[in-house]
Amino acid sequence: MRPRQALDIYLSDYIDRPGGTDNLLPVFQQVRDRFGSRRALYPGSYLHITPSLVFPQVCYLDSLKDIAAALADPALLEYVNRHKSYPEKAEMRCYPEDYCGFTGEPESSFDLLISLNAGFISQAVKRFLRPGGLLLVNDGHYDARRAWVDPDYQLLGVFRGESLRLETAPEQLAACFQTNRGRPLTLEMVEADAQRTPSKARFRPAREAAAYLFRKGPAPNGST
Ligand SMILES: C[S@@+](CC[C@H](N)C(=O)[O-])C[C@H]1O[C@@H](n2cnc3c(N)ncnc32)[C@H](O)[C@@H]1O
Repeated sequence: MRPRQALDIYLSDYIDRPGGTDNLLPVFQQVRDRFGSRRALYPGSYLHITPSLVFPQVCYLDSLKDIAAALADPALLEYVNRHKSYPEKAEMRCYPEDYCGFTGEPESSFDLLISLNAGFISQAVKRFLRPGGLLLVNDGHYDARRAWVDPDYQLLGVFRGESLRLETAPEQLAACFQTNRGRPLTLEMVEADAQRTPSKARFRPAREAAAYLFRKGPAPNGST
């Protein structure tokens, strides 16, 4: 990956049409506007720098060769500064390393953990999320359902449909983590599918969403 190509790669991979925006931009905006998140950790980010358009401090963490140079591409940084929606200077840190052994930032210091298509991030770097912090996750690598079966996370809502508005109605949320026959997903079911591609998954939720939002912390009043 040559650094000068980083902006071109971002635009072709994440922007659906010239002059358009990333589909997930409204999701990040809703998280910020509703919950006030400012400091985000994004393991397995690749060149997905859309969070820096919304959150002033983002730490990118990816083991891909040359990722640090690519994320420092002046054209990419200029793009961020031109399109960001907050007044302060964008703070973008990059750690070119495996997220499993990450120690580079203080534990419990992030408002938001982003997990998109890059493994069980909800588990590997959970300790960096502050209590009450948010996990924004998709199910491309089954990490949404991994968080669902983890009592350390509570589901707040899902982003679905064309508008990707946050849905919070309990009956809608429940269907996202149960099979068509109404069987709730379990840790055993998640682990049974973990090494399978989604098209070969044995257990499929009745309802799918583009992204899922969890809060780190125990269930209120001991409920599940
Ligand atoms: C499929 S891409 C997803 C990129 C981006 N999150 C998205 O959804 O478009 C997965 C990325 O995660 C990175 N990755 C996977 N496992 C990793 C690990 N253990 N540590 C650091 N990066 C990892 C890969 O290098 C790759 O850039």
